[in-house]
Amino acid sequence: MDILRKIQEHREEELRLAWEGTFADYLEIVKERPYVAQTAHSRVYNMIKDAGVEEVDGKKKYNFFSGHMFGIDEAIERLVEEYFHPSAKRLDVRKRILLLMGPVSGGKSTLVTLLKRGLEAYSRTEKGAIYAIKSCPMHEDPLHLVPPHLRDEFYKQYGVRIEGNLSPLNMMRLQEEYGGRIEDVMVERIFFSENKRVGIGTFSPSDPKSQDIADLTGSIDFSTIAEFGSESDPRAYRFDGELNKANRGMMEFQEMLKCDEKFLWHLLSLTQEGNFKAGRFALISADELIVAHTNEAEYRSFISNKKNEALHSRIIVMPVPYNLSYSEEERIYEKMIRESDMAHVHIAPHTLKVAAMFTILTRLKESKKAGIDFIKKMRLYDGEIIEGFNEVDVEEMRAEHSDEGMKGIDPRYVINRISSAIIRKETPSINALDVLRSLKDGLNQHASISNEDRERYMNFISVARREYDNIAKKEVQKAFVYSYEESAKTLMDNYLDNVEAYCNKNKLRDPLTGEEMNPDEKLMRSIEEQIGISENAKKAFREEILIRISAYARKGKRFDYNSHERLREAIQKKLFADLKDVVKITTSTKTPDEQQLKKINEVIATLIDEYGYNSTSANELLRYVGSLLNR
Ligand SMILES: Nc1ncnc2c1ncn2[C@@H]1O[C@H](COP(=O)(O)OP(=O)(O)OP(=O)(O)O)[C@@H](O)[C@H]1O
Ligand SMILES: [Mg+2]
Repeated sequence: MDILRKIQEHREEELRLAWEGTFADYLEIVKERPYVAQTAHSRVYNMIKDAGVEEVDGKKKYNFFSGHMFGIDEAIERLVEEYFHPSAKRLDVRKRILLLMGPVSGGKSTLVTLLKRGLEAYSRTEKGAIYAIKSCPMHEDPLHLVPPHLRDEFYKQYGVRIEGNLSPLNMMRLQEEYGGRIEDVMVERIFFSENKRVGIGTFSPSDPKSQDIADLTGSIDFSTIAEFGSESDPRAYRFDGELNKANRGMMEFQEMLKCDEKFLWHLLSLTQEGNFKAGRFALISADELIVAHTNEAEYRSFISNKKNEALHSRIIVMPVPYNLSYSEEERIYEKMIRESDMAHVHIAPHTLKVAAMFTILTRLKESKKAGIDFIKKMRLYDGEIIEGFNEVDVEEMRAEHSDEGMKGIDPRYVINRISSAIIRKETPSINALDVLRSLKDGLNQHASISNEDRERYMNFISVARREYDNIAKKEVQKAFVYSYEESAKTLMDNYLDNVEAYCNKNKLRDPLTGEEMNPDEKLMRSIEEQIGISENAKKAFREEILIRISAYARKGKRFDYNSHERLREAIQKKLFADLKDVVKITTSTKTPDEQQLKKINEVIATLIDEYGYNSTSANELLRYVGSLLNR
């Protein structure tokens, strides 16, 4: 029901947004809201800007891309500042083809798709509204109707600059349908839609021998030549190439550099002069953003070819490198998994993070800085604070290699390996070890990795594995400590009782038997040794604690677990040291006794309830940490 209602709402919205009127009516709209007549580049830029910009530490973050593109804010900022913004201002870069260059699966297509979907949505908003000559296959700009000799005058009145000439088809329609009366020409509001082929196009090269230039610029409709008498009658022409359809919006040119040159020449005059040649007509004006993408190798071979010089100067290359922060990389995987049919699979905590660490390691280049290894660099790039290094060091490291992020493992590879790890397992639950193993196996089958890189990558698998070992151990300890919170208190109370008796030269009473006994020296020392208190210093330490307790008592405050920093540390360490044995024994025993079983269940419950594991992954984690501690 809900979906049907939504469909109806959508239909009603279409009706509400629809507008048509005469050219004279349209001029009223232009007078009030001149932005409806903005250029394609300007509309794209405003779309990005209108979504909002945040500035953090002098770096811009464009909301338009947030939640979709991760870890490449710098590349995006550059793209906006160096291409979209100046081209919106009609500066010269507008006349160049935008070429996104980056490694495989680095998000180039995703970026372009975002722009396309964004434009579709934007054209339905007030700010992004756009109008065209009614029933024109190229959704021609109505202002093209204004004769060239009046355009300066028009600019003075409306503040809108007009570029481009009325197309041959509309020139003819103006005469035939409207008797030359420009003011009567019908105008309509249009809505960008790739599916309906309005304002958004995609050109992707196929076999160069069979591909027809008509795919780009349209073609003669031979069936109508008889009706209209000649091939140069624009009515006998189908303006249905991608360049025609993308007019006013954008066209994605896939695999541009793989394309036959003759296709590229069409783009030359389009970008440079704003028009292109189709059939036997005068030049056709078009206003559209052309975005292409390529990888580095392809681009290098393209520019090394002298024949491409003219084209080269009409292209603006914007790098789209891989992300270099593992937290952001993790978010990329989360997004890709959400969008895939693996979404139901349980992925144990830290699994994607560890995979991301491996990936980032493969993308980093060695730093010349003293004391920096790959792991440290990875952490610093992720914004972690590491003693001895600061912001400036990070900036310097980034500046060391301008091409960092152009090579390494790509996100799609990782996702593929995750899905094959899932297939291999019987339960729909995977952990970091499954994924690392799968990543490793995949490296052997990966055809495009050189032997040298393979060796480096294998090594990074081990590095990531060590990171995981530490994470796993801490996680289990934490889970044990939680169920041992009570024990921490008990241990401390016990220690304090003994210290009191020791300092006052008293005896203690056994709570069970009521027997008198001496302070438990062994227990006290086992705690004190954790923070390096020597035999000679123990007396002073114990007295200091007693003084602290009485100072608290005098102020009416309760002395507890957190009242003495060093004592707390000692208790915690003692607990962890004890835990090591508890964990070790509890997790490795094949036949746990009742007590151990109870502990295991408690810890597993904590892992599930508080840390996001399920019972499979919690049990796997316990077993793994048990094996680590037994090494
Ligand atoms: N920085 C990133 N932020 C968000 N998602 C990303 C990023 N990099 C890659 N991806 C994801 O990786 C997958 C592959 O990206 P995409 O297809 O856009 O790459 P591409 O650069 O076009 O690759 P190719 O060169 O193979 O065409 C997509 O699911 C995309 O969402
Ligand atoms: Mg792509």
